[in-house]
Amino acid sequence: GIAGGAVLATGDAAAAAAARPAPAGGRFPKGFLWGAASAGYQTEGNNVAADLWVVETMKPSPFPQKSGDACDSYHRWQEDIDLLRGTGLNAFRFSIEWSRIEPEEGQFSIAELDHYRRILEACHKAGVTPNVTLNHFASPRWFAARGAWNKPDAPDLFARYADRVGRHMGDLIGMAVPFNEPNAPLVVKWSPDMMAATGQPMDVASMAAPLMKIAAKKVGSDEFSSFLFSDPAIAVPAMIRAHDLARAALKAGPGDYPVGAIVSIGDDQAVDGGEDKVAQKRREVYGQWLEVAGRSDFLGVQAYTRYLIGPNGPRKPAAGSPLTKTKWEYYPAALGHVVSYAASQVKVPIYITENGISTDDDRQRIAYTRDALAGLKAAIDAGADVRGYFHWTLLDNWEWNEGYKQNFGLFSVDRSTFKRTSKPSAAFLGGIARRNAL
Ligand code: NOJ
Repeated sequence: GIAGGAVLATGDAAAAAAARPAPAGGRFPKGFLWGAASAGYQTEGNNVAADLWVVETMKPSPFPQKSGDACDSYHRWQEDIDLLRGTGLNAFRFSIEWSRIEPEEGQFSIAELDHYRRILEACHKAGVTPNVTLNHFASPRWFAARGAWNKPDAPDLFARYADRVGRHMGDLIGMAVPFNEPNAPLVVKWSPDMMAATGQPMDVASMAAPLMKIAAKKVGSDEFSSFLFSDPAIAVPAMIRAHDLARAALKAGPGDYPVGAIVSIGDDQAVDGGEDKVAQKRREVYGQWLEVAGRSDFLGVQAYTRYLIGPNGPRKPAAGSPLTKTKWEYYPAALGHVVSYAASQVKVPIYITENGISTDDDRQRIAYTRDALAGLKAAIDAGADVRGYFHWTLLDNWEWNEGYKQNFGLFSVDRSTFKRTSKPSAAFLGGIARRNAL
């Protein structure tokens, strides 16, 4: 009934509701970007000059299935942009692959720079704002072979690549981010699986050491190091420096676009007195990166689920909690919670650069997206300065250690013909984008 809401909203809840600004018809802020996100290595196919191509062709490999042709987006990017636009979305996050642009140290491929320039041009033609990531986990094989972030000149090498990209296509870039989830090794270190198995935070670097040795043999250099398997104590400071240098290089080039920093953030919830541990995780896993975002033009938030944290660290989801296909807890409220936390830490605008769910049940994807966006809207109404939302992901693609088993896409992809088929969730999100409202 009409009075139902008022009757139910008593005491604290009523006071809180009254204090909140009016929802303005459920509308998102004017000019809000509605997009889908993707990544080169996961969609382009045959990134043979990348370090991960070595890692995935090893035996044993942390990647159970080879990426191969992926979604063949290296050839089908125009179709991808058309599909995205056709749903009603107005922004596209994708990555430029360093290993294609600089396949050998110091040798830049004009053909490949032109390739990505054409993609940017096509975005503009379609009325789509391009959001470019310069490094989405994969790096050139030569960079890994010379020790990647372990080498003192690594930040300068990355900045040189960023400078070339900026000078070649900066006039067409809508927004840019040097690194996707540079805190990924720290997130892994705090992963509930690891803690539950060993009782200790994971030492990614030592666990991966035997693997890196095999890769080293393959490329003929015992310095081989790849970001996802590197020691955060060394990689983190190096990448912070690389971020700052790359951002300065992009800003000095043509175009005038924001350059931000992405942080993977979990909705960390204390249980049984885990407050101190939550504080420790936030400090260790997000602290430095939020600082970097704070001195950049925006923060890119990537959030998927919540983590319950007790006094001894993260726990697996409670028995009986709903899980998604990745075995992460189904918890769409994470997005709003994470955004509220992030907005309390930084003054710069926030973009959601990833959020989504792997599921075979597209109705579940719709429900997840709807509820995640409702939480996001509530965080915005409570004062968070959020300017856009990029759903992970446009196409079902190669999910790292899960291969092609996971389905995060708004579109499915036939693994032999590469034919894309839209799921109802694509039209659902597109509808929200067209209305700019839930
Ligand atoms: C984080 C990463 O940026 C992306 O590459 C990955 O596929 C998704 N999240 C889902 O795990």
